[in-house]
Amino acid sequence: SVNLPLAGKKVVVTAGPTRERIDPVRYISNFSSGKMGYAMAEAAVKLGASTVLISGPVDLPKPSGVRLLKVESAAEMLEAVLAEYEDASIVIKSAAVADYRPKEAHAQKMKKKEGDSSISLERTTDILKTLGAQKKNQILIGFAAETNDAVAYGQSKLDSKNLDYIIVNDVTDPGGGFGSDTNVVTLLTKTGKTFPFEAMLKSQLAAALLEKIIEEERTTVHD
Ligand code: PMT
Repeated sequence: SVNLPLAGKKVVVTAGPTRERIDPVRYISNFSSGKMGYAMAEAAVKLGASTVLISGPVDLPKPSGVRLLKVESAAEMLEAVLAEYEDASIVIKSAAVADYRPKEAHAQKMKKKEGDSSISLERTTDILKTLGAQKKNQILIGFAAETNDAVAYGQSKLDSKNLDYIIVNDVTDPGGGFGSDTNVVTLLTKTGKTFPFEAMLKSQLAAALLEKIIEEERTTVHD
């Protein structure tokens, strides 16, 4: 229907940071609060979608109407997303997934020693790139968190990960980024369009982004 344009569609949203364990008491992570991803999931529910929210460790309540799957690491998030991918209509990757993890997760707490220390890191799997490579009919929406040349870096992620849309987030903008209730983003489409969004509450922005994407899907002829 016009009011519930995502009725009958499955939307998968990822949110929050991942945690990569160093030992039982320490980890590597980032400043994602999950607010942007949770807002995307709530907006999808309001548009009628059957919504799966795959979330890293955050301090937010479960949005009503979503199926919530909690994960910790990038590897767990990859597994959960792949299990939900095949019958998904739209996948939205708001999560701030760690790009590196410790080569070794120690079974016991590492003991303090004299002098400096270092940890060897290895790459995690790029979840979004994996999804892009396996894409059939899904609409794939990425985020890009950047501190400089945001739109150019976002464009190159849109292309290299085979995305349909990317939401570019300059996380140095005082109106948004990690942890805040508001955000400022630019939406790029694979058809070459650029839509800047003013600073607004993440809840309002999520609704505005989905509305714009639905409108683009209605009016764009796909190859
Ligand atoms: O959670 P909040 O506090 O509300 O903050 C919101 C946000 C800043 C986290 C969010 O708006 C945002 O920008 N999310 C993307 C963060 C990110 O990891 O960006 P990236 O440019 O490093 O990654 C690009 C894309 O690839 C993202 O869609 C990411 O989910 C995905 N990715 C990255 C690495 C990896 N191993 N697998 C991935 O799927």
